Amino acid sequence: MTISALPEWSLTARVSNSVTVLDEVASTNTWAIEHQLEPYSVVLSWNQTHGRGRWNRSWISQPGEALALSVVFPPSLPDGQVSVSASWIPLLAGTSAVRSLAKLGIEGVAAKWPNDIVCEAGKLGGILTEVDGVGQPIIGLGLNVQFSKDRPVPQAVSLAELRELEPDTVDTFVAHFLEELKFARQLQAQERSRHVRETLLTVGRFVRVSPSNGESWNGFAEGLGEDGALLVRDDHGSLLPQRASEVEHLYQ
Ligand code: BTN
Repeated sequence: MTISALPEWSLTARVSNSVTVLDEVASTNTWAIEHQLEPYSVVLSWNQTHGRGRWNRSWISQPGEALALSVVFPPSLPDGQVSVSASWIPLLAGTSAVRSLAKLGIEGVAAKWPNDIVCEAGKLGGILTEVDGVGQPIIGLGLNVQFSKDRPVPQAVSLAELRELEPDTVDTFVAHFLEELKFARQLQAQERSRHVRETLLTVGRFVRVSPSNGESWNGFAEGLGEDGALLVRDDHGSLLPQRASEVEHLYQ
């Protein structure tokens, strides 16, 4: 069932022309991909049954406990604004999520390269960016909001553990998130990198890198490349750009 712009999402409806709320959906990302929506359309559900994560993993959530959100991110704009390469998009989404949480008074949350929203206690959310049939990036964000019993996975943390929830807390978050994405979208390359670095926990840390097809190794994350790759110095002094590896923070 599709209901557009329920009162519950009135703040979100002020910043997006298309808000689709699904009572139940396999994956909001898949739904957005299949429907080829206009830029900054929003698809939301409190009951996502087959949420997908990075590396073909599942994003697990119980009905009503996590927000599943997908936003269409314009790949290029008619007014000649800079185009954003695909590898920057999860990073822009991460920084937008962290800044939106900070606007709700939630401090101590940061982005972990490339797609996690974390705090000291664990993982609050995750991002999966995909592309729809007409080449529009779809930003998928899963945000743990409140657990009634057990955590879906041991490292999961919910918004309710960080802040008292009010009826409009999540709607306010989504509206901020949209505004932050629009702001991030128009940044030029240098500002974009600085913007992402401000909320990114990974740069300046020792990390363990696990490539999709190779052995894990440890190194020091020195910065971000022009395309958003994580630049990691290995033990031999080589600076190796990481684009699709899994990265773990060492020595918390
Ligand atoms: C990860 O942690 O690996 C990313 C998880 C992304 C989950 C979100 S929930 C909304 C959107 N729909 C999906 O199927 N996945 C993303």
